[in-house]
Amino acid sequence: MGGAAADCRPFGPDADDNYSDDQRFMAAALALSRQHTGQTGTNPSVGCVIVKDGVIIGAAVTAVGGRPHAETQALAKAGEAARGATAYVTLEPCSHYGRTPPCANALVAAGIARVVVCLADPDPRVSGRGFAILREAGITVETGVLEAEGRRTLAAYLMRQTKARAHVTLKLAVSKDGMIGRTGAGQVAITGPVSRANMQALRAETDAILVGIGTAIADDPELTVRLHGLEHRSPMRIVLDHHLRLPLTSKLVKTARNVPVILAALRTPPSALPGISPTGGEITPPPAHPFPNSPHASTPAAQASSATPHPTSATPPPASPARTQADGQAASSLISPPVGEMPGRAEGDNLAPTPAHPSADSALAPTPASDTAQALSTRRQHLVEAGVEILEVDDLASLLTALAARGLSSVLVEGGATVARAFLEAGLVDRILLLEGPVEIGEGGIESPLARTDIPQEYSAVRRLRFGEDCCSEYERDFQCLQVS
Ligand SMILES: NC(=O)c1ccc[n+]([C@@H]2O[C@H](COP(=O)([O-])OP(=O)(O)OC[C@H]3O[C@@H](n4cnc5c(N)ncnc54)[C@H](OP(=O)(O)O)[C@@H]3O)[C@@H](O)[C@H]2O)c1
Repeated sequence: MGGAAADCRPFGPDADDNYSDDQRFMAAALALSRQHTGQTGTNPSVGCVIVKDGVIIGAAVTAVGGRPHAETQALAKAGEAARGATAYVTLEPCSHYGRTPPCANALVAAGIARVVVCLADPDPRVSGRGFAILREAGITVETGVLEAEGRRTLAAYLMRQTKARAHVTLKLAVSKDGMIGRTGAGQVAITGPVSRANMQALRAETDAILVGIGTAIADDPELTVRLHGLEHRSPMRIVLDHHLRLPLTSKLVKTARNVPVILAALRTPPSALPGISPTGGEITPPPAHPFPNSPHASTPAAQASSATPHPTSATPPPASPARTQADGQAASSLISPPVGEMPGRAEGDNLAPTPAHPSADSALAPTPASDTAQALSTRRQHLVEAGVEILEVDDLASLLTALAARGLSSVLVEGGATVARAFLEAGLVDRILLLEGPVEIGEGGIESPLARTDIPQEYSAVRRLRFGEDCCSEYERDFQCLQVS
């Protein structure tokens, strides 16, 4: 699994300079739409550009929070000049009455002559109806312009609409010798500052970051956004942790009141998943159930049956105005709610699970073998008191469904090896970002579950970029979603 950073010739859709006028203006609309990715709640971040005689006379992106929509803002900027113009919109204009009239009607009222769209909206309230309103008014409608890039840009929204689950990006930093870290060494720097800045920006446009408890203990990461000016956009942090082993002294727990932390306790233990074993080849015996009082704790059949999430925290995470639900959604479903400034500390520092205070000793260094119902219950209580939410779900798929039901559309899986493998084997990775650095880890290295040479065949390479000395390769898996033209 050697890294192949030497061959990092860039390629990808950004490199295409043979665009038609329609494609160029749509590319501008897509660039605009990306400005608010992750900030429009459950609404898609849409871009709209209004063009007359080859000149852009109005342009806008869906506002932070999801309202107002791009089209109405762009029309307002264009004013009377919009009459007879062409509107380039990255998603089918809406056709339903929410807090404001439909965008399709606004385009008709403004006298737009032609509407060019990337792709249809799978939202059943809109799908095809937006196009119908435009066509009935005599407007020329063209769809499918830069459709692939549009799907990529709106992937998280499309996944939540069509599959009712959050979209998953798996990010792995891999050394030249194919490792993602070194056993017992905590966080090892594999990539350089350009990669790190890009990955921080990616966090800022994602609804949740997820790691396994192995990484949370070994690296003591904070998993926040520490790019200047974007600190307030830290997404919700999720740790897969059956036995509630996350130390109370960890950065994650200490910051849980500022940026929400969820411990997801999955009823299907990872050692029960086919082909998956914890790093180092150890297979732990099936653990005591973390929720002994749960009706699901009793039988294997019961463990496999329900897909319903079971939030068990007494304290739901706080909501930030920028990341609350947009219109048309139940107000009770919160979307990643960060508040407050995060200190600009470096990620890392090996974390031994040391006690926070004497009374919590037993809650801090648990091993599956020593787990008792009482110890689990004590740990649970301490974690909840520290502001951590505990979510009990059946498996990874039901976790993603539960997140989508709360209005979260995108999850960035940041490792480690066991968790990355589990998502891949469950068929739940939609996009892969492979960062290859020039560093060699050598002895004690933890092998990456993926290398450029063994990307599963259902993924296609989208682009490759050079980030300083590192190489970033992006792969995506296509998924079918309803298309109306
Ligand atoms: N280079 C990179 O990109 C990168 C990124 C992150 C981490 N790392 C490195 O990776 C290492 C940690 O990797 P790791 O494999 O030991 O740990 P990990 O993948 O972070 O965590 C694995 C643990 O998560 C828990 N888990 C709960 N539900 C699970 C599920 N459905 N599937 C899989 N795991 C589940 C299990 O513990 P319980 O049974 O106790 O719940 C499992 O042992 C560290 O050295 C870290 O530095 C590297």
